[in-house]
Amino acid sequence: MRVLVTAGPTREYFDSVRFISNPSSGKMGYAVAAEAVRRGHQVVLVSGPVELSEPGGARVIHVVSAHEMLEAVTSEFEKCQAAVMTAAVCDYRPSRRLSHKLKKQNRSRSIQLQPTEDILAHLGKIKGDRVLIGFAIEDHEHHVNAEAKLRRKRCDAIVLNGLGNVGSDSAEVEILRADTGWSPPLSGTKGQIAAAVLDLLESLFAARR
Ligand code: CTP
Repeated sequence: MRVLVTAGPTREYFDSVRFISNPSSGKMGYAVAAEAVRRGHQVVLVSGPVELSEPGGARVIHVVSAHEMLEAVTSEFEKCQAAVMTAAVCDYRPSRRLSHKLKKQNRSRSIQLQPTEDILAHLGKIKGDRVLIGFAIEDHEHHVNAEAKLRRKRCDAIVLNGLGNVGSDSAEVEILRADTGWSPPLSGTKGQIAAAVLDLLESLFAARR
């Protein structure tokens, strides 16, 4: 199978050196990409800025912003049979990016933000018979929010990720399949969670045939 994986945060710049981002480490997505390679799949990994070495055997496309991630993902997705979207894409970008460094002034300032593209929702609209797995990070009404996300973004499954997993080598997740519902909570290293995600992906793919 040709599998597309997204990983890491995006950065949304408001001047020549400063940006809005989040603490995603990219570890989950890199583990998914490495596990998919290990199982013999062809993998393209679209990665935001992270401090990880590239998983051997995967083709890696480095991007910075949500818009760059959207462009890379859209052009790669059509060549793939499945996508696993672990990236912590910024939901907003500054409306303007100054070409110079904003000088300090002794007064409060505000930065106007505008929504970025929802990459997973876009793939949901164009996926055809491709398998689409999303991730959801929630801090309240976990199941209700994840269920709404799965429907809104037209995923085949969504992996509910706790806030405590961010940056860690291990994770506690729950998986919601559109066809069969919730499975019991799963905890382990991100490598072990990646193996469970690949089991899910392969099973969803087999069910298509
Ligand atoms: N996602 C995406 N593009 C975005 C935002 C999110 O592709 N602009 C994907 C993520 O990679 C993840 C899923 O959508 O697979 C859910 O991301 P999450 O941050 O949990 O939710 P949001 O859609 O951002 O919604 P909210 O912040 O309101 O929970």
